[in-house]
Amino acid sequence: MQVFQDIAGLRTHIARYRRDDQEIALVPTMGNLHAGHIALVKAAREACERVVVSIYVNPLQFGAGEDFDAYPRTLEADRQKLEAAGAHVLFAPSDREIYPQGREHSTTIDAPEALTHTLCGASRPGHFRGVTTVVAKLFNIVQPTVAVFGEKDFQQLRVIQRMTADLNLPIRILGLPTHREADGLAMSSRNGYLSAEERSNAPLLYAQLQWAAEQLRAGEIWDAIEAEGLKRLSGAGFVPDYFTLRDAENLQPLTGWQAGDAPARVLLAARLGQTRLIDNLSIS
Ligand code: PAF
Repeated sequence: MQVFQDIAGLRTHIARYRRDDQEIALVPTMGNLHAGHIALVKAAREACERVVVSIYVNPLQFGAGEDFDAYPRTLEADRQKLEAAGAHVLFAPSDREIYPQGREHSTTIDAPEALTHTLCGASRPGHFRGVTTVVAKLFNIVQPTVAVFGEKDFQQLRVIQRMTADLNLPIRILGLPTHREADGLAMSSRNGYLSAEERSNAPLLYAQLQWAAEQLRAGEIWDAIEAEGLKRLSGAGFVPDYFTLRDAENLQPLTGWQAGDAPARVLLAARLGQTRLIDNLSIS
């Protein structure tokens, strides 16, 4: 596996892949890799001959007071995991490479507000602008045929799919199911922030999503499920941000779901101590 910190070196290297007609899959990450990321790399390997993984903790997608400084940076351990997973290139740029004029002076990309100002975007203003801006840059730098993202960040996946379509980028976006710990907790780099007690409570999020799915399939209306769910979360020490039923494509709110309806998604965000956790489940 080749490691590049500069765009010029990376471009020269992957130009060779293109000359040999080899397609490239990109897996954008912020590092601190876990089994969920490695599953994305494996899917990328199945999709294309060459796999480029980027590791960049993107300052533009963190708000004031968020965990940008604390975000775990584990480059050497990540490099070893990627090597073992069969990635061909690791791109780990500096801020200067990505934001040559400083991030506050960067051109930015905004997906439509209907997708970005709701759910996580409502409590994290500017977050999705940061995500779409850096992902568009990575797409331009690597020019992959396929890019792979996890469904754990479901809203992010939909926002990136929309940006890619709206900007006519010739990139196929693959979304992969969430990887979970044995007790159901969605794998996330932020799980490492949890205390032992918080960690033992955290699987309640997934249990609650499963409960909501059962209630919906039994014909219960969403309002009643939401009210009960929020009460349960608060009772267990979470500070809920949202617990909501949405159309799985456009993320617009739904009031219920029954067999035969278009696919829906239950999405949930809650703070546990200092840690903000998100999860979601498909209803189809
Ligand atoms: O999901 C992430 O890790 C990040 O939001 C991404 C897509 C790598 C952009 O910084």
